[in-house]
Amino acid sequence: MGPFLLVQTLWLFLPAYVANMAPVLAMKLAPGWSAPIDGGRLWRDGRRVLGAGKTWRGLGAACVAGALAAMSQSLVRTTAWDLSDFAYTASGGMGGPLLLGLALGLGTAVGDAVKSFFKRRTGRVGGAPWVPFDQLDFVVGGLAFGAAASWLLAATGATRDDWFSSEFLGGRWPVLVVLFVATPLLHFVVNVIGFKLRLKKVPW
Ligand code: CTP
Ligand code: MG
Repeated sequence: MGPFLLVQTLWLFLPAYVANMAPVLAMKLAPGWSAPIDGGRLWRDGRRVLGAGKTWRGLGAACVAGALAAMSQSLVRTTAWDLSDFAYTASGGMGGPLLLGLALGLGTAVGDAVKSFFKRRTGRVGGAPWVPFDQLDFVVGGLAFGAAASWLLAATGATRDDWFSSEFLGGRWPVLVVLFVATPLLHFVVNVIGFKLRLKKVPW
């Protein structure tokens, strides 16, 4: 890690960032596929379990986007900025990046949905702001699923290294600090742009 800590951190977590944006784009591309994950069911409090904003379409889009991002990144080799190349496969193939990216994407969607569950319990309607949980839900979810998947991949010998522990732990803990500080700021900027482009109904 060096002076490019921010760039390195963003590159490292790019599959999760891309995955977190994918559901909004998928909504524009396939507005008809709006089947909600909670099946329209209500919780004991009479409110939706997750809400109409959490769809299977969004969850699927996040998985696909995460996998595509990690696979694309694994093709980029750069020594200059010491950027993680996501090439954690023993054979050097695409299996590792694909599964790791898929897990990161799924993790962002699950983190977002778990956030929505608690958000509904607090009485906030879909689309209402809930700082800082709206901004960090996918970071927590992505890290948790990424950690589990990379440990599993390394333990089974599918990949030569444990992506999560070699990129985020030990002396590289500043990456985690940058991730939690920079993400809400970045999230805000991206959402204002999405709002201006009329992709999002609200600027958060
Ligand atoms: N989206 C989706 N499926 C998901 C997540 C998001 O289809 N699993 C789409 C929905 O159209 C949603 C939009 O992306 O309205 C914005 O996502 P987000 O801000 O996460 O959802 P909100 O509608 O704000 O709902 P909540 O209040 O529960 O966060
Ligand atoms: Mg929201």
